[in-house]
Amino acid sequence: MPHNYYTGEMAEIKIDGKVHELPVIVGTEGEKAIDIRSLRAKSGYIAFDGGYANTGSCISNITYLDGESGILSYRGYDIAELAENCSFVEVAYLLDHGSLPTRTELNAFSQMLNDFAMVHEDMIRFFDSYPAKSPPMAILSSMVNSLCSFYPEMANNPLENIDKMSARLLSKVRTIAAFSYKKSMGHPVVYPRHDLSYCANFLNMMFDSPVRPYEINHKVVEALNKLLILHADHEQNCSTSTVRMVGSARVNLYASVSAGISALWGPLHGGANQAVMDMLASIHENGGDYRKYVERAKDPKDPFRLAGFGHRVYKTYDPRCRIIKQACDEVLADLKYSDPLLDLAKDLEEVALKDDYFIERNLYPNVDFYSGIIYRAMGIPTNMFTVMFALGRLPGWIAHWKEMWDDPAWRISRPRQIYVGPLSRPFVPIDQRG
Ligand code: ACO
Repeated sequence: MPHNYYTGEMAEIKIDGKVHELPVIVGTEGEKAIDIRSLRAKSGYIAFDGGYANTGSCISNITYLDGESGILSYRGYDIAELAENCSFVEVAYLLDHGSLPTRTELNAFSQMLNDFAMVHEDMIRFFDSYPAKSPPMAILSSMVNSLCSFYPEMANNPLENIDKMSARLLSKVRTIAAFSYKKSMGHPVVYPRHDLSYCANFLNMMFDSPVRPYEINHKVVEALNKLLILHADHEQNCSTSTVRMVGSARVNLYASVSAGISALWGPLHGGANQAVMDMLASIHENGGDYRKYVERAKDPKDPFRLAGFGHRVYKTYDPRCRIIKQACDEVLADLKYSDPLLDLAKDLEEVALKDDYFIERNLYPNVDFYSGIIYRAMGIPTNMFTVMFALGRLPGWIAHWKEMWDDPAWRISRPRQIYVGPLSRPFVPIDQRG
């Protein structure tokens, strides 16, 4: 990607009585940055930014996020418009190719997804070796890493094969996710079908059974499409940065995505949707006193936090949460499914949004706050929620890996540190220590 965002303006930094000039960068949406790459060479200082909250790690043209105004767009298209009008497959194409597909391009892409939907029969046998209670994210991460043994296109120029690898990943992760659920239930796996759309195919692999055929509900398919679209990318979040960082060492796409899946697993990241449901269930089982939990979340001596609240970047209402909340109402109404946890979530949100603690810290519900309730209504078990997130986030990981790989300014990711350990000391042989 050409790095032509330098304005010619220079920022000045004064250290040890000397002024150093550093170039200014301005993005297409007006985001400003100071390029500090020459700072150490010029001054002997490095920039310190634990947690990277104030660090731009790359220049990217995939996703724009304005956390203060609650704006999220993929390749320039507003997320709400995409969620309303597109299928997940169209959005995956958009993220990975840079433009929305024509009908011909979409058909060709869908055909590839169909062609790659099966997983190697030897891989299916892996499922039998996992203990029954294995976390599905552990299975997913290792199975995705294993894909490079079965489909080793990376040996050649990876960018020549990127379309094939992307379609393979998007299609096979869906199959692996559904198979891992079936195996965890002790049920026979259901193979993918070429006559079904991406989301309908997934739901069918999850819920069809030899004794009770699955009836596809179009409202449910629509809601799943929406959920996956809303999760499809979120610029340099923890898992995407992981994919980029691992890939920066020139690691293949499958292994890089597998590392991203591991990062997503954490309860502070993709694992939050599961944590929300566990929290709501626990409040419900303990009498439903949600105000007590809000008080606990505010207590600095209590490590408890409201799961699904707060975000590193959003300092206003998460735009994805608004869409999911509405989708949640629609799906539950269509399925005639009433869920006391949805009422609890709404009550909890209302109380928290009026509370000074949450107002002062700009803490709003995030994408995970309502998504679990929809998944639950669809019949997806709680331990599969983060797998669903991974399925949605795949196109974003692929797009970022591809952009990083293709960037002429690419360098291996290698941050520095401020060492505060012991000063140099003489070595003591083992018998003289004590
Ligand atoms: N409940 C109660 N207090 C909170 C919460 C919460 N959910 N989130 C943040 N705070 C408080 C912190 O205690 C801190 O208070 P203080 O200033 O008095 O010390 C202040 O708000 C700022 O919080 P930080 O932890 O500094 O914010 P950070 O940007 O590092 O963390 C994070 C963001 C991890 C998302 C955090 O808000 C959190 O733990 N939320 C709950 C987990 C969650 O929902 N994660 C999903 C995020 S979205 C995603 O990854 C898809």
